[in-house]
Amino acid sequence: MKLFLDTADIDEIRIVERWGVLDGVTTNPTLFAKTSGRTYDEVLKEICGITSGPVSAEVVAEDVDGMLKEGRHFAKIADNIVVKVPMSETGLEAISRFAAEGIATNCTLIFSANQGLLAAKAGASLLSPFVGRLDDINEEGMTVIRELSDIIRFHEIDSEVLSASIRHPRHVTDSALAGAHVATLPFKIVQQMVHHPLTDKGIAQFRSDWDAARKALAAKA
Ligand code: E4P
Repeated sequence: MKLFLDTADIDEIRIVERWGVLDGVTTNPTLFAKTSGRTYDEVLKEICGITSGPVSAEVVAEDVDGMLKEGRHFAKIADNIVVKVPMSETGLEAISRFAAEGIATNCTLIFSANQGLLAAKAGASLLSPFVGRLDDINEEGMTVIRELSDIIRFHEIDSEVLSASIRHPRHVTDSALAGAHVATLPFKIVQQMVHHPLTDKGIAQFRSDWDAARKALAAKA
């Protein structure tokens, strides 16, 4: 399963890229709003220079022409830009038009397998069900990931399921087990995945045993 970083924070993206586990990046207007002093274009350009994986740039227009205008503009920023389009009637039309132009899309704000199926049929390369936001309203977000992943594989559809709105490390494991092709994670969750109390304790123990053994050798010399 591929791991994307769900952020527009350049420092976080550089760190995870250095760890060698970064397959792409997703941004959205909320994540962009957390960056300061730069345009969305500037931020996207810098991200695309850090990773060669897909970088999702989200349109805010709600009409087809507006979505097409914004998406075509993003697509010119770098070859690895993927235009993120919300699930809606106009969104489906825009996705279908982008597909005809050879522009890759990520259909966002998916909350049911049927919405995902429609986005795939319209030609979206990435389908983004929001797991955490479904859990927030007492629904089972992972069910959508499992159902949509099964549908995509069963019918050999050329789209990938991207598990989004991930809230904790268990969501990552469950997404992988449910068959998601990609999960997009906030930086904090990637950090949480790295650590385990027994790993940290083990590292400290090995260090102190090593130091004690060297001290004993030095005392004998
Ligand atoms: C990613 O593509 C989504 O925009 C993001 O995961 C949404 O996460 P949130 O529900 O925590 O805002």
